[in-house]
Amino acid sequence: LQISLGTRSITYTLGGASRENFLMAAEKWVYMVTAQTPTNIAVIKYWGKRDEVRILPVNDSISVTLDPDHLCTVTTVAVSPAFDRDRMWLNGKEISLSGSRYQNCLREIRGRGGDVEDKEKGIRIEKKDWEKLHLHIASHNNFPTAAGLASSAAGFACLVFSLAKLMNVDEDPSHLSAIARQGSGSACRSLFGGFVKWTMGSKEDGSDSVAVQLADEKHWDDLVIIIAVVSSRQKETSSTSGMRESVETSLLLQHRARDVVPKRILQMEEAIKNRDFASFTKLSCADSNQFHAVCLDTSPPIFYMNDTSHRIISLVEKWNRSEGTPQVAYTFDAGPNAVLIARNRKVAVQLLQGLLYYFPPKSDTDMRSYVVGDTSILKEAGLDGENSVESLQPPPEIKDNIGSQDQKGEVSYFICTRPGRGPVVLPDQTQTLLDPETGLPK
Ligand code: DP6
Repeated sequence: LQISLGTRSITYTLGGASRENFLMAAEKWVYMVTAQTPTNIAVIKYWGKRDEVRILPVNDSISVTLDPDHLCTVTTVAVSPAFDRDRMWLNGKEISLSGSRYQNCLREIRGRGGDVEDKEKGIRIEKKDWEKLHLHIASHNNFPTAAGLASSAAGFACLVFSLAKLMNVDEDPSHLSAIARQGSGSACRSLFGGFVKWTMGSKEDGSDSVAVQLADEKHWDDLVIIIAVVSSRQKETSSTSGMRESVETSLLLQHRARDVVPKRILQMEEAIKNRDFASFTKLSCADSNQFHAVCLDTSPPIFYMNDTSHRIISLVEKWNRSEGTPQVAYTFDAGPNAVLIARNRKVAVQLLQGLLYYFPPKSDTDMRSYVVGDTSILKEAGLDGENSVESLQPPPEIKDNIGSQDQKGEVSYFICTRPGRGPVVLPDQTQTLLDPETGLPK
């Protein structure tokens, strides 16, 4: 390892006799990169693995990347010869990196590291040094982990993306997606913005089980996404163990993977390409419902949705039917939260009004903490003032069914967002999560 300090340039051999000198000189530097990565919501679901270790799925899946301004993970990765072991902090708390998923991602990315030189700081790291140098990693989600929103997707994608930048890994995002996949399956789809397909692949080593971008976020920028974070009392079965149980016991899963999803993937690709909202909605809703049917078909059955989730489905179904053409698509992951995709802003405004009519905030809740993200929709809906929710009229199409303003507290809050961009490096030094001098959390 060669370090240049000012005019001096000295070559040290790690592990050799000069290691002590090296450390003394080298303690001076910490080299780091900060990146931001989005989360994603599947519209054709991944549910079931054919290889648990490499994380290889039983079917292809398709997702929409969510705008990282509203939902994202920020990760700072740092390297320094002064670090004595790999360490990681998640949302400010130190966590163990000993799990096989972290270990697999770290091993894969280290093996691909390249030469790095920062002349200004006098740092030069050679390819072979990455095996010996230790890392500090700090990661933060801009949404509450307890909300039950998939944080592992953005988290592992951000870990792999930021390390690839730190280590000057010369690989395209699809190759990186195959590494992120080994942290959490859905993470591979967060390496791209817009609309993304994870191809299951057929190779045993998983090298062809990668994500590809179908279209970027500008391709279909009419879409507005509203997430209802549904309150839940029960501890949910994790995706990992839930899908394992489904693979072991559900015949419907086998039928789905073999006969249903392959056709749906082709149809969904067409729908996205043509911005065909009617097909997009039909496929998204049907696929979400089939995924939850597979959960019910699992022994013992798994219940991810609750009464509030079911009420939201009825609301959207009735509205879509009364309009004649679909206005809103819904999809639910391994939890009760509803992800609603409106065909345009006008529809999103009506949707938000309807949602707030049926699921108003508790009396002491401030509207600014009840509707978060892109709150301009709230303004357009005329709901940013005091007492505005009380004055809402029932949506005309659906007033006969679901009991009106009696669902206070069933929804914790709403997040307004849209399809968004893929991972980016954050060059702004003020956004780093690790101290540039010590490499410890700020
Ligand atoms: C329901 O990616 O969380 O969100 O690969 O075991 O980490 P592991 O599971 P994970 O599963 C996500 C399942 C899903 C559907 C989807 O995102 O496609």
